[in-house]
Amino acid sequence: MTRVPIAGVGMTAFGAQGERTSRDLFAEAASKAYDDSGLAPEDVEEVFYGNYMGELAEGQGHSGPLAAEAAGVTAPATRIESACASSGAAVRHGVNRIRNGDVDVVLVGGAERMTNLSTADGTAGLAAAADALWEINAGMTFPGAYSLMANRYFEEYGGTREDLAHIAVKNHDHAVENELAQFRRSIDVKDVLTAPDVCSPFGLYDCSPMSDGGSAALLVSESFAEERGLDPEVAIVGTGQGGDRMALQDRASMARAPAAERAASAAYADAGIGPDDVDFAEVHDCFTIAEVLAIEALGFYEVGEGIDAATEGETAIDGELPINLSGGLKAKGHPVGATGCGQISELTKLLRGDHVNSDAVEDAETALAHNAGGTVASCVVTVLEVTQ
Ligand code: COA
Repeated sequence: MTRVPIAGVGMTAFGAQGERTSRDLFAEAASKAYDDSGLAPEDVEEVFYGNYMGELAEGQGHSGPLAAEAAGVTAPATRIESACASSGAAVRHGVNRIRNGDVDVVLVGGAERMTNLSTADGTAGLAAAADALWEINAGMTFPGAYSLMANRYFEEYGGTREDLAHIAVKNHDHAVENELAQFRRSIDVKDVLTAPDVCSPFGLYDCSPMSDGGSAALLVSESFAEERGLDPEVAIVGTGQGGDRMALQDRASMARAPAAERAASAAYADAGIGPDDVDFAEVHDCFTIAEVLAIEALGFYEVGEGIDAATEGETAIDGELPINLSGGLKAKGHPVGATGCGQISELTKLLRGDHVNSDAVEDAETALAHNAGGTVASCVVTVLEVTQ
């Protein structure tokens, strides 16, 4: 396990800002990461940039070099596309390049512009992350796919819509003080259960929103950090990626997420830890049921037992294992290409003590990010630790 220090992080606010281009959003995130790290564009040797639907939303492909240019860099730049796990995968590519000894400074991150599209067009664009032949042709959308997973979970392991509602309530509560979050208002279980229906069992508050946003991080080698006297307080100590069959009907179970199990197992082995060592986590709650599948796949809960965690308060800010202290995708927002590195940004600040919710995890040493693509056909898990 080679540690990869995080020299600096930056994020735009996530929310409806559809007048801004994704290059503009990434430029802001990168600029904040430079300020946070004390590094400059000239220091960057390579860029990995996550973006999912630039062609549809902006008519823009080949966005790696464009994002690098927006960040003031002409170094080699590659766009990484892994649906909603795009920037988690971008972070992983950066980590691997540094660990290989190929480069010392990598700018990673991502951006997505979504709210310039209508909800119908955005939904169709997101659906392209499913199997075009077998799912999209049959009318599959992402709220539809995850609602199938939720209903299957209820069938196999039990649980109710109300249990899911507690997840939405918790994540909205966590976002109230987060100035970068899209929805900074508390809601209660009744609000969730009486909200407009989206796709049974989901109502409005079971879903992450359409969002625009950017995220960035500057990863460095330990030797570079030492040479430049950077002294980063947080490092990436483990990374893992898992895959699965693309279409839901081809999976052994629709109520499990084996790609996340595989990603977690690889990341834990890489970091030399197990699930019990994790103090808190950001997980990919694109729909309320996704948080349940995540905390089970990560080994925090036995299969079939994650559904009660929010209801019992265990994953709340004052619980034993706080989950999604940023507000999660549900309340912080989900500009898909920016989400994974956004999790890294939030966790870094939470561990350093300069996040508004840091007091809740004052003595924490280890945190984890879980970033899923599609209906978890791809998943990246990243483990972060304080360095001192
Ligand atoms: N949670 C809470 N409030 C939401 C919301 C959400 N997910 N989505 C929208 N809202 C709010 C808006 O802020 C707006 O509030 P206002 O009237 O006070 O301004 C209101 O609800 C209506 O917004 P609108 O954008 O018209 O909603 P919509 O009905 O067109 O779309 C969803 C709502 C849930 C269908 C849409 O956000 C969606 O498709 N989400 C899923 C995105 C997705 O699949 N991501 C990929 C995951 S893998």
